[in-house]
Amino acid sequence: MNEVMNTLLSHRSIRIYTEQPVEEAILEQIIKAVQAAPNWVNLQHVSVIAVKDKERLGKFAELCGGQGTIAQAPVFLIFCADFYRTWLACQEQGQAFDETVSQIDNLIVGANEVGIALGTAVAAAESFGLGTVPIGDIRLHALEAVEELNLPPYVVPMLGLCIGYPAEEPGIKPRLPKDAVYFEERYNPDLQPLLAQYDETYARYLKERPWNNRVGNWTQLAADFYRAPYSHYPEVPQMLRRQGFWSDRLT
Ligand SMILES: Cc1cc2nc3c(=O)[nH]c(=O)nc-3n(C[C@H](O)[C@H](O)[C@H](O)COP(=O)(O)O)c2cc1C
Repeated sequence: MNEVMNTLLSHRSIRIYTEQPVEEAILEQIIKAVQAAPNWVNLQHVSVIAVKDKERLGKFAELCGGQGTIAQAPVFLIFCADFYRTWLACQEQGQAFDETVSQIDNLIVGANEVGIALGTAVAAAESFGLGTVPIGDIRLHALEAVEELNLPPYVVPMLGLCIGYPAEEPGIKPRLPKDAVYFEERYNPDLQPLLAQYDETYARYLKERPWNNRVGNWTQLAADFYRAPYSHYPEVPQMLRRQGFWSDRLT
């Protein structure tokens, strides 16, 4: 096993941090890694906004459903899908843009790039001994997040990431069996036996973990999470429209 693999396979989300600040030089390396990541046509549709001010960290903790982890983290990065720069480029070239950006595939492009960027930031941060946790709840009060971050049109907040030195050791969460997520040549939909196997592993993990131990398994977790009416982030469609990212003529 090499060092990179060691870092990747040791991943676990960290939600409690020490008081130690994240050194500027390390944050710079993390952003360098993000910028070096693959992206669509080298058009680089991601922006990252760092929030470090204590009061503003508290504000974002509130906006993200009262997640104290954000208030406590030394750095909270917000990853945005960003078509503002490409809009400027089109303007520069005297070319229309609005109809282009509101094509549904651009949502996929933006989400892809943010995912790649955030994954890269997690790996880079963990390589320095830092802990992280992604925060999807940045989309909970999506309209206020846009205001708070001063986002221009065509910039959409997609994910947050808390970074800090770990003050907890939650351990590694077991994942699905490989055969349930990796296929050769063709997908195999006959997954129930593998899910049943994972349910046992997950139930044992939940029961035995030293923090927040509870009864349950993975299929229960999934069913609970997607229980109707499912509406985790109801402001997202309005925020996408406001940012010019979505039109009712979406194609
Ligand atoms: C897109 C995304 C959004 C997430 N949002 C949150 C969040 O809002 N709050 C939180 O505590 N964890 C959040 N997480 C962390 C996941 O719960 C965590 O990665 C998952 O349970 C696996 O655990 P592990 O990272 O410790 O292996 C998020 C993860 C991802 C990838």
